[in-house]
Amino acid sequence: MSAGFTAEQLTQVAIEARLNAYAPYSGFLVGAAVCDEQGEIHSGCNVENASYGLTICAERVAICKAVSLGRRRLVAVAVATEGGHAPCGACRQFIAEFAQELPIYLVDAVTAEVSTVQIEELLPRRFDFS
Ligand code: THU
Repeated sequence: MSAGFTAEQLTQVAIEARLNAYAPYSGFLVGAAVCDEQGEIHSGCNVENASYGLTICAERVAICKAVSLGRRRLVAVAVATEGGHAPCGACRQFIAEFAQELPIYLVDAVTAEVSTVQIEELLPRRFDFS
């Protein structure tokens, strides 16, 4: 990873961001952290809504924070859940928009175990009409 951020730091930010999850309907807390090419970390958590379909995933919150600051190239993502689950399909496509190659650290927020996958593994043949 560039600019001195370690996978451990990124996963720790995701674990902490998960504590801010607003998930009164599912009870499933998700934290995310993305590292941009300048080495800055942006965090996110899932934000649910009484109109369920309006829910926003943690990964997309973190990415929107980065992009809204002008950071369009991501170098790593961490996602923290109970169980270390992989991002949903929508978030895979959203991540792929801002990186050709990138590791995703799947963090079990309870055990702190981490497994690493590549975006290309999670989303081969991403949608791209450019
Ligand atoms: N969720 C995420 O935050 N990220 C994902 O990649 C999958 C699902 C959230 C949405 C909802 O608040 C809860 O997890 C259960 O689906």
